[in-house]
Amino acid sequence: MMHPAFLLLIIFTDGTFSKEACSYQDVVDYLNLTTDNSLFKMTRPVLDYRDSTVVKLDIILYAILAVIEKTQTFIPFVWVLTMWNNERISWDPAQFCGITQISIPKEMLWKPDLFIYEMVQKNDSPLNPYMRVSHDGTVTAEEGIKVVSTCKMDVHKFPFDTQSCNITIGSAIHGVDEIRLFPFSNSSRITQFSQELIKSQGEWEFLHQSVTSLNFTFGNGTWETLRYTLIMKRRPLLHVTNFLLPILFFLILDLASFYIADHRGEKLGFKVTVLLAISVLLLILNDILPSVSHKIPLIATYCIVTFALMLLSLLETILVTYLMEKDSASQAKLRLRDDREVKQETVTIKNCNTEEKKQTLCLCICKASDESHELMPVAQEVDTSIQSVESNALLLILEELKELQNILNLHLGCRQEGGKSGHWAARINKAFFIFYVATVSLFLSFIIFSWTT
Ligand SMILES: *[C@@H]1O[C@H](CO)[C@@H](O)[C@H](O)[C@H]1NC(C)=O
Ligand SMILES: *[C@@H]1O[C@H](CO)[C@@H](O)[C@H](O)[C@H]1NC(C)=O
Repeated sequence: MMHPAFLLLIIFTDGTFSKEACSYQDVVDYLNLTTDNSLFKMTRPVLDYRDSTVVKLDIILYAILAVIEKTQTFIPFVWVLTMWNNERISWDPAQFCGITQISIPKEMLWKPDLFIYEMVQKNDSPLNPYMRVSHDGTVTAEEGIKVVSTCKMDVHKFPFDTQSCNITIGSAIHGVDEIRLFPFSNSSRITQFSQELIKSQGEWEFLHQSVTSLNFTFGNGTWETLRYTLIMKRRPLLHVTNFLLPILFFLILDLASFYIADHRGEKLGFKVTVLLAISVLLLILNDILPSVSHKIPLIATYCIVTFALMLLSLLETILVTYLMEKDSASQAKLRLRDDREVKQETVTIKNCNTEEKKQTLCLCICKASDESHELMPVAQEVDTSIQSVESNALLLILEELKELQNILNLHLGCRQEGGKSGHWAARINKAFFIFYVATVSLFLSFIIFSWTT
C-alpha cells in the first residue's frame, strides 16, 4: 500500500518533468540564437538582399509633457510599436509543445534603425529590454520614447490656439528599396488608441492624430518616412484668469477713474499706477511668447492697444489738470489785483479776504453780491422813510454800497472770463470719456471676434 503523499509527489515530479520538456530555451537552442551570433545581428534579415524588409509601425500618444512656445519645443511621450519579419527565424510550434512566440533580449536580433527627424535630444526614457518573436519570424518591439522635438507653432491666437506638431519617423540609412514603412493602424484607429491611452495632457486637449506616408529624397537616395501629425488644443482658462482678465480689470479701473474728483493730481497718480501694473503683466507675456516677426499675436495687440488707450487717457488727464491749474492761477492773479482795488476803494470785504482758498473767491464774491442785491431795497426804503440828519450818513453808506455793487459786477464778469479754461477742461473730459468708452468697446469686440473665429 503506497502512502498518498508519495503518490502525490510522483504526480508532481512527473508534471514538472513534462513542463521542462517544453522550455523556451529549446526554441532558442533550435534557432541557434546566442548573444554572439553575428548571423542574426549584423545584417538585414532577408535571404535575398533584393527583397525589402517591411516595417509596420504605430505611434501612440501617451502624454503631452510640455509645449514650450518660447523655444518652439514639443515634448510628448509616445509609445512606438514596430513589427517586421525576420526571414531567418521560423519554427514549428507543434514540435515545441505549441510555443508560438518567445521573448528575447533586444540586442540579440537585428532591428530597423528608425529615428525621429524632429527629435533634438537623446532619448533618456527607460528602455524596454525585450522583444517578441513569433514562430513565423515576425518580430515585435515596443518602446516608450520621450520625444524632445521641434515644432513650428503659430501663436497668433494665443491662448485660444490649436497646435499641430509632426513626428516624422524613418530609417536612418536604409533607403526605400531596403526598408518599406507602413502604418499598422489608420488615422482614426490611432486617434482612438491615443485617446484611450493618454494619461496627462497638461494644459492641452488632444484632438486628433493622423498618419501619412512621405518619400524623402536626398541626393541619389530615397527614404520612406511616416509622418504622424498630432493636433491639440490649448485649455485657455489659466491664461484668461491670469492675464486677460487682470488687464481688462485695469482697463475698467482706468475707465472708472474718470469719476475721481481731480484734486491735487490724485487722478493722475491713480492712472500712472494702473499703467505700471499693466507693464508688469507685459513682462510676463514676454516670458511666454516667442518673438516671431511675421505675425503679431492677438494677445500682444490686446495688451499694446490697452496700454496705448490708458496712456492716452493719462495724457488727457495731464491736459485737463494743466487747464485747471491755469484756470486757478489766473483766478489767483485776479484776486491779487482785486485785493489792491478793494484797498484803493477803502471797501473791506472781510469774509472774502480772510478766505484762504483761491477757487472759492469768485463764489464768495458772488455771495457778497447777492447780499448786496438784497440790501438795495432795504436801503432805498430807509432812504424814503427816514428824513433826518442820520439819513445823510445812510445815504453816504448807500453810495458806498452802490460803488461796491459796481465792483462786484466787474468781478462777476471776471469769473466768467477766468473760468474759460476750466470750462474747456470739463468739455474735453466729457468728450474724451465718450471717445474712450466707444474705442474700448469697439476694440474689445474686434479682439473677441478675432479670437473666436
Ligand atoms: C543550428 O546550428 C546547427 C549546427 O551548428 C545546424 O545544423 C542547424 O541547422 C542550425 N539551426 C538553424 C535553425 O539554422
Ligand atoms: C515612395 O516610394 C515607393 C517606392 O518607390 C512607392 O511605392 C511609394 O508609393 C512612394 N510613396 C509616396 C508617398 O510617394
